[in-house]
Amino acid sequence: MKDKHKTLPVMDEAEERKIVADLRPKRFQEYIGQRQIVETLQIAVQAAKQRGDVLDHVLFYGPPGLGKTTMAHIIANELEMPLTHTSGPALEKGGDLVSILTHLGYGSVLFIDEIHRLPKIVEEFLYSAMEDFAVDIIFDKGMNARSYRAKLEPFTLVGATTRAGLLSSPLRERFGIQRSLDFYTSEQLQMVISRSAAILEVGIDDDASYAIALRSRGTPRIANQMLRRVRDYAQVRAGGRITLGVSIEALALEGIDALGLTPLDVRFLNVIIDFYKGGPVGVEAIAATLQEETDTLIDVVEPYLLKAGLLIRTSSGRRATELSYNHLKKKGFRKASGQLELLAE
Ligand SMILES: Nc1ncnc2c1ncn2[C@@H]1O[C@H](COP(=O)(O)OP(=O)(O)O)[C@@H](O)[C@H]1O
Ligand SMILES: [Mg+2]
Repeated sequence: MKDKHKTLPVMDEAEERKIVADLRPKRFQEYIGQRQIVETLQIAVQAAKQRGDVLDHVLFYGPPGLGKTTMAHIIANELEMPLTHTSGPALEKGGDLVSILTHLGYGSVLFIDEIHRLPKIVEEFLYSAMEDFAVDIIFDKGMNARSYRAKLEPFTLVGATTRAGLLSSPLRERFGIQRSLDFYTSEQLQMVISRSAAILEVGIDDDASYAIALRSRGTPRIANQMLRRVRDYAQVRAGGRITLGVSIEALALEGIDALGLTPLDVRFLNVIIDFYKGGPVGVEAIAATLQEETDTLIDVVEPYLLKAGLLIRTSSGRRATELSYNHLKKKGFRKASGQLELLAE
């Protein structure tokens, strides 16, 4: 430690946004992992371009930070078409959506993030917009009501959601291409980190990028966030280069544990183990105890814990696994038995 009193570098918001934009892959070529999805889209995009057609509507689902927004932008770049970016909660009235739709040019991309949070009345405009490239606009009410069908330029809708199950089936069925994004392997995350380090012009050792990858919860966004924390630490405390030692010290300072679990992940598992004897317990009960939204737990916390084998879902609720007992150094793990399952809830 060279200088304990030096403060961490401070960035303004514009600088922060620019870094996030710089780290985002712009082309299929740069997109790491998710090979099957990339290949499907490469073929679909190329075919549409060759025919002069509009690309089918595309739906991405999967936990936050896995690259849904990035992929939407890549699709537009590869199509060489403009992208209009909006989100479910931002579209409050039918008119909000209609005015966006009527301004879309032929073949352009409309990206709706958090599409499961689209109000129902707005969603209904999308049905005909997606299927017939038209919207029915209703003037006046009651006896004087008249409707007018406005033609739209054919466009591609790209939707993103954390859970496909939250989408109504009429909406879901209108997406010709639907793909679920998966958590990344440590090797893929290491590639994300190396790529980002090169863009940020910071030197990093291979064992250091791997150590960060292991603690990134399978998620590129987290990998990039951690890289930036480690880079600050290396700059202020260790002369700039990111070594294994530097990354472990920096991440320990951030409160990241060896599996990359966040404080909320750890609280979640602790509640199951300490309050509910390891489970099974319903997610609503866990949410109430933690005073967190059930949706946050389902969308953000659980997918990775399930993937990492720290949690299982049974018909009677969530259970902590032996692995999570060991990881959190808890005693008293009991294997599920038929009787236990019956006693629960
Ligand atoms: N496949 C990938 N290869 C490289 N970087 C990625 C990849 N996917 C995501 N990222 C990085 O992670 C960040 C978060 O991705 P984003 O597309 O915003 O996730 P989502 O929309 O699914 O929440 C991006 O800014 C990008 O830097
Ligand atoms: Mg996003």
